[in-house]
Amino acid sequence: MATEEAQAAARRLEDVSERLRRIVEQLDIRPDDRVLEIGCGQGVAATFVCERLESGHLLAIDRSAKMIEAARRRNAAHIEAGKAEFQVGAVEDVDLGDRRFDKIFAVRVGLFHREPERARGIAERWLAPEGAIFSFFDPPSRRAA
Ligand SMILES: C[S@@+](CC[C@H](N)C(=O)[O-])C[C@H]1O[C@@H](n2cnc3c(N)ncnc32)[C@H](O)[C@@H]1O
Repeated sequence: MATEEAQAAARRLEDVSERLRRIVEQLDIRPDDRVLEIGCGQGVAATFVCERLESGHLLAIDRSAKMIEAARRRNAAHIEAGKAEFQVGAVEDVDLGDRRFDKIFAVRVGLFHREPERARGIAERWLAPEGAIFSFFDPPSRRAA
């Protein structure tokens, strides 16, 4: 039973990774991009972004401290290399000072789905000239656990 559960969990992680890998491909990350991810969850997409960065940098935020903790664990090497930062905060009230980003993205974050205009208005404040905002709300995988 434990083995079956472990196998099902491994398959789910595989699905999530594949889904997010495809999404990150669409961002066309450049080596020097400054990237902001909103609602990073466990930091799976963040890993794919960091793998494409050289001099660039990723800041990922999530309102859940538990998710940020998991994302930091997963991306410890990228944090250590100075390539990534993970910060607890809700997009509606996080203070990012005068930081600006070339790409801002969110995957399956409710606010971007429910109130896209509001979410865009909030994120636009952090956009660099020529920057772009991406929001994805793909359906869950249908693969049986
Ligand atoms: C459905 S999960 C998606 C996680 C990840 N982006 C993915 O696709 O696997 C939504 C995540 O967004 C975070 N979140 C939801 N609303 C948020 C907000 N207003 N500001 C920051 N994070 C938020 C949640 O805590 C959660 O980790």
